[in-house]
Parts: sequence; C-alpha cells; structure tokens
Amino acid sequence: MNKIHAAITAVHGYVPDYVLTNKELESIVDTTDEWITSRTGIKERRILKGEGLGTSDMAVHAVNGLLKKRGISAEEIELIIFCTTTPDMPFPASANILADKIGAKNAWGYDLQAACSGFIFGLSTASQFIESGKHKKVLVVGGDKMSSIINYQDRTTCIIFGDGCGAVLLEPNEEGLGIMDSILRTDGAGKQFLHQKAGGSARPATHETIDNNEHVVYQEGQAVFKFAVTNMADVAAEIMERNNLTSDDVTWLVPHQANKRIIDATANRMGVGSEKVMINIQRYGNTTNGTIPLCLWEWENQLKKGDNLILAAFGGGFTWGSVYLKWAY
Ligand code: UT7
Repeated sequence: MNKIHAAITAVHGYVPDYVLTNKELESIVDTTDEWITSRTGIKERRILKGEGLGTSDMAVHAVNGLLKKRGISAEEIELIIFCTTTPDMPFPASANILADKIGAKNAWGYDLQAACSGFIFGLSTASQFIESGKHKKVLVVGGDKMSSIINYQDRTTCIIFGDGCGAVLLEPNEEGLGIMDSILRTDGAGKQFLHQKAGGSARPATHETIDNNEHVVYQEGQAVFKFAVTNMADVAAEIMERNNLTSDDVTWLVPHQANKRIIDATANRMGVGSEKVMINIQRYGNTTNGTIPLCLWEWENQLKKGDNLILAAFGGGFTWGSVYLKWAY
C-alpha cells in the first residue's frame, strides 16, 4: 500500500464587508496612507461589524462555502481544528460552537492557539490524524476577529490587523500528493514583545485592566520585525533544503501576511521571484490565523495538481514554521 498523505481537497474563505481604508485610519490616529503603505504594504483591511458576531460567524461562511464546493455534508466531517487567537469565548472552544452552527453532528474538535503561525501548526497537527488512518475528513479553520483585541488609539498596531477567516478540508491521498513535510518552532522568550497583557488566568479582567487598556494587542514592532524577518526566511529555506527543492521547483510561496517587507525578505532568501508569491496583504492586512488559508482561497483557480507550495509563518509566542505540500487537485 502507498503511503497516505493528507491532502487539501477544498478551500474557501470569508472576509467581512466593511472596508477600513488607510484614509479612514488617517481620521482616527496620527498616521498617513503613505507611511502605512511604505512600511507595511497594507492599503485596507476588513472589519466584522455587528453585535454579538465572533470569529466563528466568519468561519460558518468559509466552511459552508467549502462544503458546497466539495459536495459533502457537514455530517461527514470527523474533526475540526479551529486555529484562532480570538475565539468567540474563552470556553467552550470555537470548534464546538462552529460544529453546532454548521451541523457537524459527528465531529469532535478543539481550538489551536499559536498566534500567527496557528494555521501552519493546525495543518501539521491535522495531517497526523489523516496519515495515521484515524480520520478521513478533517477541517482546518484559520481565522481571527483581530478588531476585537485592537486598540484603535494605538497607531502602531491598529493599522496592521484585520478580520477574516479561511478553511481547508484534508483527506487521504495515495498518489504522493498533499502535505509532505513541516517544520514547527516555538520560543516563549519572545512573549515579551507581542502579547495581550490581561484576560488570561495570570491576569484576569478587572476594572484596572480595563482602565489600563490591557485587553488588546501589545507589540514591540521593531523587535518582532527582526525576529520575523530572520526566522520566517530561515525556516522556509530549511524546508526547501531538507526536501531537495530548488527555487525552480517551488511553484508558490504562501507566506503569512504580516508585513510586505517580511514577505519580500523570505522570497529573496528562497530565491523565489515575486510572480510566485501569494500576496493579498494590501487588501486584508494581517488577519493572523486567516492569512494563509485566505491566500489559498484567492489563488485556488491558479493552482494545478502537483504544484509545490511552501507555506511559512511567524507570530507571537514566538511561534514560526513552514509546511511543504503538493497541491492535489
Ligand atoms: O504577525 C505577527 C508578527 N508581527 C509582525 O511580524 C510585525 C512586525 N513588525 C512590523 O511589521 C513593523 O515593525 C511595524 C509595521 C509594526 C512598524 O514599522 P517600523 O518600520 O518598524 O516602525 P517603527 O516601530 O520603527 O517606528 C518608526 C517611526 C516611529 O517614530 P519615531 O520614533 O522615529 O519618531 C513611530 O512612532 O514611525 C512611527 N510610527 C508611525 N508613524 C505614522 C509608528 N506607527 C506609525 C503610524 N503612522 N501608523
């Protein structure tokens, strides 16, 4: 019997309708379209508006679209891994909430938290359930409502993040296609540079934490940038080397969309030309767990069976990693 790989067999995404432009941000904080564009590559991002709507509500759109495309019912899903940093609630898991909303009655699931690297960690984790033969249909969802943890008075963070969600279906493949390799890394010493100060068990919500605005993203941008630019490029180069891939062999680089300059540095390090790099940061900003599946969704029509894709991400934690996969359809 041939080795079983976990292959993506469907992908879909969702971004909310509201477009927050750099122009509008100019009226909220002391910034300019020119500064944001030149430092990050971002022109606009989407914001989920509406009372009581959370990350799972975006996931419902993404997953329902995916199921329709694949022509299967939610009841056929066996496992949902929901990669998110902004779950609807601290508990239960957004995977449970999503399963209920879409009618995935036979699925179990859990949330996976690895900040911006979450989708890559989730993809690699999910692939184990397929490769072992335990499951045949696993959903990996990556999404965030970053606007729920952003301080719109802090010009260093509010210009970067946006809301969005994507999802992929993993199924067994015996043709040698699917996820071939992954490299995953964490370094908790990086926590000081990018975190949310309050709302966890170490510092639960109090009047003081609210007054101090501690329930939002805290980022030391320059420090994070330095680590991101080195580690994301290194890990992408490492996975190429380990799999004997030259830049000619790589059909697409699918990078986490945190900053266009980090993406360019990663592509340069890999020797991959810009025509092979999926970039939509200008329209969506950094949607954290949503960036990579949203790229796959938008580029789906250009992907061909057998294409070599390198996925790479870097995020809070620090977390970073890379996945090498062969597109299966
Ligand atoms: O996805 C998770 C991982 N996160 C990342 O990968 C993000 C990594 N970091 C970055 O992308 C960049 O560091 C930022 C985009 C966050 C910031 O860009 P930067 O080029 O590193 O700017 P900086 O923090 O060094 O700030 C340079 C100047 C400062 O002014 P002074 O001190 O030189 O007078 C900032 O106060 O730019 C100022 N500044 C702004 N000016 C206009 C910071 N934010 C803004 C702004 N508009 N929005």
